[in-house]
Amino acid sequence: MINFLGTPKIETDRLTLRKLELRDVQSVFNHWLSDERVSDNRINPAHKTVSETFDRLDKIVSQYGCKEFCYWGIELKETSELIGEIDLYDFELATGNCEVSYSVGSNWWNQGYGTESLKAVVEFGFRKMNIHKISAAHNVDNPASGKIMRKVGMKQEGVIRHMIRNSKNQYKDCAVCGIIQEDYLEEYDTTESCILSYCE
Ligand SMILES: CC(C)(COP(=O)(O)OP(=O)(O)OC[C@H]1O[C@@H](n2cnc3c(N)ncnc32)[C@H](O)[C@@H]1OP(=O)(O)O)[C@@H](O)C(=O)NCCC(=O)NCCS
Repeated sequence: MINFLGTPKIETDRLTLRKLELRDVQSVFNHWLSDERVSDNRINPAHKTVSETFDRLDKIVSQYGCKEFCYWGIELKETSELIGEIDLYDFELATGNCEVSYSVGSNWWNQGYGTESLKAVVEFGFRKMNIHKISAAHNVDNPASGKIMRKVGMKQEGVIRHMIRNSKNQYKDCAVCGIIQEDYLEEYDTTESCILSYCE
């Protein structure tokens, strides 16, 4: 059974994963939701106005009271800049399975932040929430996302043709990847934690 813990603050070496707040609106807009390089790999189009971002943020913030809601902003410890987001969603109670999704603003790509965030959330999901399986899908023409999935131990299980249609009306084939708790716990020793601390 999944042990829902809401969205606690999680600290890693360089990052703090924390709840988003309404006052983050300008950073969320500037740093990733208005960024076309990010939205090109997501279903929703880039935001054109801060008020679109405010509405989205308002929806997120209003759900933090719910234990089943796991949606983190990714903050750099060194500069306190908010650079992206990561969430666990689509929890299926019958199986204990869920999905993960993430975005990092393109100014901060290729510095290991995506991997560090995904590692922490996968570890949290398996060790603290007792999730059975975590899955994600990436466009086949988005190798960076596939790379970070593989780096945290997710395995490709197949390719689904035309799985999504993006905001530019292009159909995309997606590679579906997943990792099972049992395999994760076998591979990663309990001493090998990337989470320095977590708290409500
Ligand atoms: C996917 C994403 C989160 C990765 O974030 P990131 O902080 O750049 O990730 P990391 O730096 O930890 O790792 C990226 C890896 O991809 C590799 N990479 C980047 N571009 C690549 C390319 N065109 N081809 C192959 N590998 C590539 C990098 O070299 C790096 O691997 P390495 O650490 O072994 O060198 C970020 O690119 C992003 O937000 N993209 C847009 C939104 C998105 O795609 N979300 C996921 C939807 S499934």
